[in-house]
Amino acid sequence: SADLIKKLENTIENIPDFPIPGIQFKDISPIFLDPKLYEEVIADLAAASKGKVDAVCGIESRGYLFGIAIAVALEVPFILIRKKGKLPPPIISEKYDLEYGSAEIETREGQIKKGQRILIHDDLLATGGTTEAAAKLIEKQGATVAQFSFLIGLKSLNGDEKLKKFGAEVYHILEY
Ligand code: PRP
Ligand code: MG
Repeated sequence: SADLIKKLENTIENIPDFPIPGIQFKDISPIFLDPKLYEEVIADLAAASKGKVDAVCGIESRGYLFGIAIAVALEVPFILIRKKGKLPPPIISEKYDLEYGSAEIETREGQIKKGQRILIHDDLLATGGTTEAAAKLIEKQGATVAQFSFLIGLKSLNGDEKLKKFGAEVYHILEY
C-alpha cells in the first residue's frame, strides 16, 4: 500500500558510496527496530504470495530476514539457499558470475520437492545475478519458480530482465 511504501521510504537509510564509490547502499536494518512495521512488511509480502506457492526459498543472508516469516505466515516450508561451503552434504549447487570472479549457492538435496511451486525471496533485486542463479538451482531440482519477491527493486539495474525467462511474477514493495 502507499502508506507502507511511505513508511519504508522514511525508515530505510540511504548511504552513499558504500561499500564502494558510486553505490547508494539501502540499509534495511532500521525496519527491525520497529516490530509493527516489520509485521506490516510480512503481511504485505505474504498476501502477495498467498495461494500461489508451495514453499519459500530465501537467499543467504538478507533473504532470511523476511523469508522465514513469509513462509510461516503462508504455512509452507522454508528452504535455505546458502553461500558455498556452509551446508553439509548431500547438496545441489549452482555457480554464477559476479562483476569480478564467480560465486556459488547451494541447497540441501531433497528439501525442494519435484513439482513444487517455489517463491524465491530476497531483500533486494539489484543486477539479478543472485536471483537468476537461485532460479536455476530450483529448476534443476524439478520444481518451478512460481514467483519472485523482494522488499526493494533497483530499477536502473534492470534485474527483472534476467528473470523474464523463468516466466514468473516479480513482486516488490518499493522501487528505487
Ligand atoms: C545482496 C542482496 C541480494 C543481492 C542482490 O546480497 O541482499 O542478495 O546482493 O544483488 P544482485 O541482484 O546484483 O545479485 P549480498 O551478496 O551483499 O549478501 P548478504 O545478503 O549476505 O548481505
Ligand atoms: Mg543478499
